[in-house]
Amino acid sequence: MQLSQPDQQSLKVRIWRGAGDEGRYETFDVPVLENQTILDVVSYIQQYMDASLTYRFACRVGMCGSCAMMVNGVPRWTCRTHVKKITDKAGSLTIAPLRNLPVIKDLVVDMDVFFDKWVRAEAVHHPTRSIEQGVQPVNEETAERQAANAAIECINCAVCYAACDVVASNPEYLGPAALNRAWSLVNDVRDGGREAILEAVSGKGGCHNCHSQQSCQKYCPNELNPTASIAGLKRETAKFALQNFLTPTKKDKAEKNMKRERV
Ligand code: FES
Repeated sequence: MQLSQPDQQSLKVRIWRGAGDEGRYETFDVPVLENQTILDVVSYIQQYMDASLTYRFACRVGMCGSCAMMVNGVPRWTCRTHVKKITDKAGSLTIAPLRNLPVIKDLVVDMDVFFDKWVRAEAVHHPTRSIEQGVQPVNEETAERQAANAAIECINCAVCYAACDVVASNPEYLGPAALNRAWSLVNDVRDGGREAILEAVSGKGGCHNCHSQQSCQKYCPNELNPTASIAGLKRETAKFALQNFLTPTKKDKAEKNMKRERV
């Protein structure tokens, strides 16, 4: 990056510094540059002002999802967010770690909580074929495939998770990203985990906790709509529960028989 000129305009940047729950904002004057992104600002501070500033990024092109932070109070992918578009009237920026996740240091949060919830939601691939059998062909025209495709471009940046007020008030809630991936898999003919997923997202902290507030959709940098995916899960879990009620499984039947025998 080009270094500042003496008469260059500068930007007041407040950055969260600290570890765990302890911390404070520190202010830096950063030169304003053409086409500067929020990630450029953070990198400038780390390279030229305070080498101990800790933050996370990898691709710089909106693919890896690692650079998300709170910027002037809202979650954003910082490598694709231009400073000019979001500085407030005073020309200042406040940058903080993502909301709803534990802070490790400065702008770096612990993503374990976020990804553990993907596993809890069974939002992981459940293979149905061996390597020898090859990949199952997919018909792109079906409604199911289109529903899967609409939810598939998630880059795991946790912007939706940070934006969600239900996550903020209920730490058990699986959150929009895990549920969005679960919906994508429920609609994927190559995934064999439909029942396991529907059971997992019906339970405590599952899809029925969503209030359809739509912050996830508002802030998703890839313009996905996790609220719509969660609505799909609500419908499918309701149908699944009704189906199970009307058509008892082998396990239910065995339990009933055992009870009868005991009587
Ligand atoms: Fe990869 Fe921003 S650095 S998405």
